[in-house]
Amino acid sequence: MAPKLRRVRGVVRPPGDKSVSHRVLMLAALARGTSELAGLLTGADVKSSARVLRQLGAGISTVHETRVEVSGARLTAPGARLNCGNSGTTARLMLGILAGQEFAATLTGDASLRRRPMRRVTEPLKQMGADIKERGDGLPLTIRGGKLRGLTYLSPVASAQVKSAILFAGLTGQVPVTITEPYRSRDHTERLFAHLGLGIHEREGAISYQPSAAGIPSFDVSVPGDISSAAFVAAAAVLADEGELLIENVGVNPTRIGFLVVLERMGGDVDRVNLRDEGGEPVADLLVRPAALSGTEVSAAEIPTLVDEVPVLAVLASRARGSTVFREVGELRVKESNRLELVAANLRAVGARAEARGNDLHVEGSDGPPQGRVETASDHRLAMAFAVLGTLSGADIRLSEKQSVGISYPNFFRDLKRCFAS
Ligand code: S3P
Repeated sequence: MAPKLRRVRGVVRPPGDKSVSHRVLMLAALARGTSELAGLLTGADVKSSARVLRQLGAGISTVHETRVEVSGARLTAPGARLNCGNSGTTARLMLGILAGQEFAATLTGDASLRRRPMRRVTEPLKQMGADIKERGDGLPLTIRGGKLRGLTYLSPVASAQVKSAILFAGLTGQVPVTITEPYRSRDHTERLFAHLGLGIHEREGAISYQPSAAGIPSFDVSVPGDISSAAFVAAAAVLADEGELLIENVGVNPTRIGFLVVLERMGGDVDRVNLRDEGGEPVADLLVRPAALSGTEVSAAEIPTLVDEVPVLAVLASRARGSTVFREVGELRVKESNRLELVAANLRAVGARAEARGNDLHVEGSDGPPQGRVETASDHRLAMAFAVLGTLSGADIRLSEKQSVGISYPNFFRDLKRCFAS
C-alpha cells in the first residue's frame, strides 16, 4: 500500500520575536514613564530579561503576550546576583546597560550560559571604562559601571549581541560609540533607537550612536512574530506532500531573512504577502507550500542573517537532492550548545550524512526514513529542528527531551501538530 500523503494546512501565528522582545523590555525599563508592549514572547529567555530588570528596580507586569506594562526607572543596585538563565542575549545586552550604572552587579546563568564566551562583550566595555571582574571567558562575572568614555570599535565577530551591548553602554553612559562588524548582524537595536529618536546613524557599514540630553521617551509597540520560530513550521510545511500553510505576522527584517533566501534558492515555495510595518520593523504573512529541494552553498556573508536557522536548514538539506555546505559557521560552537557538532552528529544518528569540516558544515541529501535518537543537549533549536524531521512519513525520531522549546517557542509542539491535523 502506498504511504498516506501528509497534508499541511491551516494558519500558525508564531510567538513574538525573541531579539525584539528583549530589546523593547530593556529600553522600556530605561525610559521615562510607562510603556505598553504587545506581542512579547512569553518564552523563558524573555522572562529572564524581565526578572533581571525587575531586580534592578524596573516595574514590569507579568510577561503576557497580549500586553505588558513597563514603568521605567533609574536602575538601582540589585540585592542579589542577576540570573540570566539560558539567555545569552539577556547576559550580553545587560552587561552593556550595567556598564553605564554606578553600582556593582554580578551576573550568572545556567550551565549552558556559564560556558558561553563573554569576553567579546567585556573587552570593549572595559575599553569604555567599565570595571569588570571575571574569572575566565564566561559567567559568573561582576561589573561595576560608571563614568564611561566613548569607543570606536572594530568587532572581530558579526554579533548583534556585541554591537547592542556597546550601543546600550553608549546610551546609559551618555558617550558616543561607533561599531564596525565583519558582516552586518541583525539591526533591531538600531531600528528601535531610530524609532525612539535616539541619535543613531550608519555610514559605510559603521554604526554610530551620538548621545543627546533628551533621554529615552516611553513608547507603545507591538512585537512582530519571530522568523526564527516561524522557520520550523515553514520547514515542516516544505517537507509535506501537499497542502499549504499560512504563517501570520512574521518579522521580515532584511538582516533576519536568510532562512527564506536560502530556502527559496533550494527550490522552496514561500510567498510573502500583506507586507506592513510594526514599530520600525517590516512584517508579512508567509504562505508556504511543499517543494522538492536541491542542495546549495550558504556563504559566510549570509550566516549572520540565518545564524539561528542553521539547524533547521541543515535538516532541510538532509532531505534535498545533492549536497549543501554552510561556510564559516564556527560561531555555532558557542551557541546554547555546540550546534555545529551536534547538528552533524544528530543527522548521522538518524541515518543522514553530515560532517563538520573545520568551520564548515557539510550535509548530503537522502530520502530514506529518518530514524534514531537525537541528543538535544537541552538546546531548543535542536529539539525543534529534529522534531520537524520527525513529521516525515516513516520517521521515528526520539528526542532526548522536549521542554527546551519553552525557551523561544512554548507552543511549538501544539502548532506543529495543528499544521498536520486533517
Ligand atoms: C541575538 C543575536 C544572535 C542570535 C541570538 C539572538 C540577539 O547572537 O544567535 O539568538 O538578539 O542579538 P550573536 O549576536 O551572538 O550572533
